Amino acid sequence: MRLNSSFIQLSLQWLPVDRYNLKVCDSTNDVARQFLADGVKVPFVVTADEQNRGKGQQNRRWVSEKGGLYTSFAIEKIDPRKALVSGALSVHSVVSGYVPSIIRFPNDIIVNGLKIAGVLVEQTVHATIIGIGINVNQNCFPDELAGVATSLSMETGAVYNLSEIMSRLLGFMKDSLSSPYEHIFNKYMQSIFYGKGCTIHLSGDRRIKCRIERIDVDLNVHTTSGDFAFEDIVWIESA
Ligand code: BTN
Repeated sequence: MRLNSSFIQLSLQWLPVDRYNLKVCDSTNDVARQFLADGVKVPFVVTADEQNRGKGQQNRRWVSEKGGLYTSFAIEKIDPRKALVSGALSVHSVVSGYVPSIIRFPNDIIVNGLKIAGVLVEQTVHATIIGIGINVNQNCFPDELAGVATSLSMETGAVYNLSEIMSRLLGFMKDSLSSPYEHIFNKYMQSIFYGKGCTIHLSGDRRIKCRIERIDVDLNVHTTSGDFAFEDIVWIESA
């Protein structure tokens, strides 16, 4: 994709990052990947008002109608764990400014038991892309997400300024990405909820009922039924 005049490029004074605001795209993560392939230098941020083919974890679709916040941070390549912890922690901080929320390991942001935001980390040869979706002003979701998803508006009845939420997210991302991993990992662990009993959903559609004993800095999960590598864990369901 070539950059053209439909992209508004803003230089944020307090954060040395170029920002490309799109009305619509398939996926801001894919746009960021294409920009990188075209030689755009990191760091930069892509946002879109809506996405036609928003991507979630495990190749799921991320419903991306107008009203949500859809953005991708393209940064110098870092360990995907740090990217994930930085993203989840930053989104948790943003959402918690409006409604109480928890992080469901590894990177779902949950309000009243429903998913309000998610983080999708992708790597290229030289860069890391941290994709973030926050449900903000949506009033409803497709039937498939009934009882699964919520938005800030659905929780509070208010309508929010997406630019303000994006500014807050940029600030938290700047802080977390410039902090030592141990520091953000400790904060992340304080915001994580995994309850007493849980079901760990593993790749290959496997499930294990167990109790989590601890999560280590590499995000491997140690449980009463054995240890599970971060790479194998899809998500953890509280009992
Ligand atoms: C998840 O499944 O929890 C991760 C959702 C990540 C969605 C965001 S929206 C912006 C960026 N572009 C995408 O296609 N996906 C991420």
